[in-house]
Amino acid sequence: MGLKYNWQIIGLSLIIGISSCNNGKKIDRALVDEVNKANEVKKLSEAEITTHAMEWGEEISMEAQKSLMGTLQKAIQEKGPEGAVSFCNVEALAITKEVADKYKVTIRRVSEKNRNPKNIPNATENELLDAYAYNSENKIENQANIQKIEDGQVLLFTKAITIPNGLCLNCHGQPGKDIQEGTAEKIKNLYPDDKAINYQVGDLRGMWSIALPKKEVVKGI
Ligand code: HEC
Repeated sequence: MGLKYNWQIIGLSLIIGISSCNNGKKIDRALVDEVNKANEVKKLSEAEITTHAMEWGEEISMEAQKSLMGTLQKAIQEKGPEGAVSFCNVEALAITKEVADKYKVTIRRVSEKNRNPKNIPNATENELLDAYAYNSENKIENQANIQKIEDGQVLLFTKAITIPNGLCLNCHGQPGKDIQEGTAEKIKNLYPDDKAINYQVGDLRGMWSIALPKKEVVKGI
């Protein structure tokens, strides 16, 4: 009996509750509209952030690539491939760091078949590299990618690096054929665990991995 009584009270208070809400109906709707609008704005800016991160990642990777290539070509012209190996050893990471510091981002060039163990991919990078490798093997064109990491606070831009021409083979091709003996020796001395050989033109060499802090991306929009 007590239970039935309780239900009646609940029913009654529900009716009172609903009717008393009648006055506030307009306010409620306004609130709902506001929340919806806020969500729309959020969705839109998320898309904007991703688009901007993609553009910015492209710009940064291109600048770093240009910087590396310019200095590499100059070093090869002046010292030959053998001399240029020491240059890459000292300068490659320094050049990418210089560009990275300028934009407050981190820049890596990672590869499963890496020369410098510092360029070993982490778990996230490995997954992305696998996808690029799959595409490469199946002649599907690789696209740059944005992944949200660290609870969405960092946007990871990645882009495949392929061997564009024979220049790279001087140091990443077949030893004895593409890589001169002196150069091969120098590489072995500097990188005892070198895996970055036996590549051919068109092969996937690795990828750019550029971590863009979301707040830096937002600043740039
Ligand atoms: C003069 C020799 C030389 C040439 C030519 C050269 N590289 Fe390298 N490459 C190196 C060395 C040395 C490293 C290791 C750099 C370091 O210690 O950070 C390296 C590292 C890399 C890495 C980073 C991943 C890893 O294996 O550690 C990529 C990617 C790469 N090279 C791509 C290329 C491409 C693409 C070309 C042609 C445009 C090229 N390289 C031409 C010597 C060379």
